[in-house]
Amino acid sequence: MFEHLPIAPPDSILGLNDAFQKDPRQDKVNLTVGVYKTEDGSTPILATVKKAEIQILNTQSTKSYMPIEGHPGFLSAVVPLVFGDSIDHGRISSAQTPGGTGALRLGADLVGRHFPNTRIWLSNPTWANHGAIFAAAGLKNEVYTYLSSDKTSLDFEGMIQSIEQNGRAGDLICLHACCHNPTGVDPTLAQWKQISELLASKKMIPFVDFAYQGFGDGLEEDTAPLKALLVNHAELFVCSSFSKNFGLYSERVGCLSMVSAEPGQRAAALSQLQLAVRCNYSNPPRHGATIVSRISQMRTQFIEGMKKTGIDRDFSFLASQKGMFSYSGLNAMQADWLKKERGIYIVGTGRLNVAGMAPQTMNNLCTAVADCIKATS
Ligand SMILES: Cc1ncc(COP(=O)(O)O)c(C=O)c1O
Repeated sequence: MFEHLPIAPPDSILGLNDAFQKDPRQDKVNLTVGVYKTEDGSTPILATVKKAEIQILNTQSTKSYMPIEGHPGFLSAVVPLVFGDSIDHGRISSAQTPGGTGALRLGADLVGRHFPNTRIWLSNPTWANHGAIFAAAGLKNEVYTYLSSDKTSLDFEGMIQSIEQNGRAGDLICLHACCHNPTGVDPTLAQWKQISELLASKKMIPFVDFAYQGFGDGLEEDTAPLKALLVNHAELFVCSSFSKNFGLYSERVGCLSMVSAEPGQRAAALSQLQLAVRCNYSNPPRHGATIVSRISQMRTQFIEGMKKTGIDRDFSFLASQKGMFSYSGLNAMQADWLKKERGIYIVGTGRLNVAGMAPQTMNNLCTAVADCIKATS
């Protein structure tokens, strides 16, 4: 059998990466694969990730299987990060996936299984792997106009026209939520609103690839296009990748979120996601998702810790903030007190690095903040 196998062509991006590794020249430069590089050309592990990993190694008590749909703490952190409070979270079914690629494939598999030969519209051009992923799941690739003929800007009219003329009810359309790969050309928010309305009028279903959340205008700002879609669409898919924004490329951390029209449809959607996972890779890997959830847990642990001190100050507003930093509401004098009296360093504006908190030192931190508030008010 194997003697008849032809040699497959190298992957258009990773193949170049391999060629780069083999190139002996000293002054070589690799601008191919989407991996962050520091000035010295390395791809470091983020300090916050390293910290979370050390905590995980010290506290992890099992390597037992994960639930089919993935790490519960990870899933409950991803949903607010991606959707904010734009919709009822009861409508969202999500599954942790091996990277954004796994999310794309899982969503495509689910559609392919129940609605074979569904058409999926891809921007011209798009990420080199999209077409192969969707085709492998049995979907039919179609192409919509995206880039202007001089390849420098969005051909918005062309895009609208090609969707208007060719899209049909039940077709999927793959949209890059932000930081379009490979062009870097995104629609404006006003254009997103028009796209959203047009797709809804055509009864097409958005299949949103969200591989670069945080790389455009900010973690929360980058969700604006998705939210514009949610205004007009009761159903859609979102494929998140945490390869880039957490620098977790090789840990393969992603998430597929399916939005159903009603919370009552969630059980069926989730069961289908589980089915698709079970026959692909059974259940996802633990490590990367634990890192993502560990970082986001610090926020809630701090809020809970502050409650336990009995101090008459509510920190629950921190739960609605996102990312690494938060304004704590502490002032410059209090920041100074914390530094002098307890060796706890926060910026004078009250900004603190939530990702720098650790479970082992949380009690100490909360007690110090409570004592500080008592001493200074
Ligand atoms: C547009 C797009 N989607 C999906 C992915 C896949 O991400 P991951 O490495 O998490 O599978 C990439 C990675 O480069 C991408 O650029």
